[in-house]
Amino acid sequence: MKILVTGATGLVGSVLLEQATAQGHQIHYLTTRKNQLEAIPNAKGFYWNPKQNKIDHKCFEGVDVLIHLAGASISQRWTRKNKKEILDSRVEGTNLLVSAIQQLNGKHQLKQVVAASAIGIYPSSFSAVYTEDYTPQPNSFLEEVVIAWEKAEDGFASLGLKLCKLRIGLVLTATGGVLGPLKIPTWFGLGAAFGNGQQTQSWIHVDDLVAISLNAATQQWEGIYNAVSPQAVSQKAFTKTLAKAMQRPYFMPSLPQFLIRLVMGEMSILVFNSQNVSATKVLQKGYQFKYPELLTAIKSLL
Ligand SMILES: NC(=O)c1ccc[n+]([C@@H]2O[C@H](COP(=O)([O-])OP(=O)(O)OC[C@H]3O[C@@H](n4cnc5c(N)ncnc54)[C@H](OP(=O)(O)O)[C@@H]3O)[C@@H](O)[C@H]2O)c1
Repeated sequence: MKILVTGATGLVGSVLLEQATAQGHQIHYLTTRKNQLEAIPNAKGFYWNPKQNKIDHKCFEGVDVLIHLAGASISQRWTRKNKKEILDSRVEGTNLLVSAIQQLNGKHQLKQVVAASAIGIYPSSFSAVYTEDYTPQPNSFLEEVVIAWEKAEDGFASLGLKLCKLRIGLVLTATGGVLGPLKIPTWFGLGAAFGNGQQTQSWIHVDDLVAISLNAATQQWEGIYNAVSPQAVSQKAFTKTLAKAMQRPYFMPSLPQFLIRLVMGEMSILVFNSQNVSATKVLQKGYQFKYPELLTAIKSLL
């Protein structure tokens, strides 16, 4: 199968490319950086620039599936400029892909799209367990972004393509991501919960996310799926488990909410939001998680 990947140079995309090529898939990828066009072995790079509405249409040649992961990082200070970039990169990028496919006038073999979304579409709650049936409301910046992103992705379905949207939880990877900044203080025995630490974190090991994405691609999944492990944990349990996996002591008091807000600004909601997200729909699809449990997941990445 030939797969076109956007966001291929990112945390998730780079692991996806390794595993997809190992499974024998052929890969095309789109990048906004010209110096990355030749950067990935066994894959062919193509240039696009959603801001300037530019895309190399050759990227679609012979492609069966599009896996669309691109989007500016949300882990950057939420200034007005960065917020615009976070939203525009997702909506304009998706719109550009939809219009580029439309311009091919049916002269392509693309059948399926697997598109990234995020559990940020669910509001913070200490009681709800979120399933894909939840009706989103644009009550915060993150909710607004993900709603607009998913709406743009519906453009793929309007073209008659099969569309699977994956609402991704906190992705655990060996480098960077959510574990990256937590590992250093934890190594020095300074790991601590944020606020009261009761907020629920719905996480997923990158290998599971990649396997779910490839299953969705090859088995032609349609609709919305939460891409989270079946065992969400409290933030306190998360930091404690990381310390245990790293064999470091865990004794520090929780970090006060006001202090974190001062340092991170509005973006601090990323660590204070509580989202207990259900993995039932993915499990019902027959997917068996390689890392359903946090301690084993973290140990595999250290
Ligand atoms: N990591 C998580 O915990 C998490 C959680 C929920 C959802 N997600 C979503 O899953 C997707 C992949 O996540 P990730 O962690 O792999 O992201 P990432 O490491 O930040 O990589 C995203 C990729 O998007 C491309 N990109 C960046 N800015 C862009 C722009 N302005 N226009 C077009 N493309 C741009 C970049 O590729 P080039 O530089 O090559 O163009 C980059 O490699 C993202 O959409 C993210 O929002 C991630």
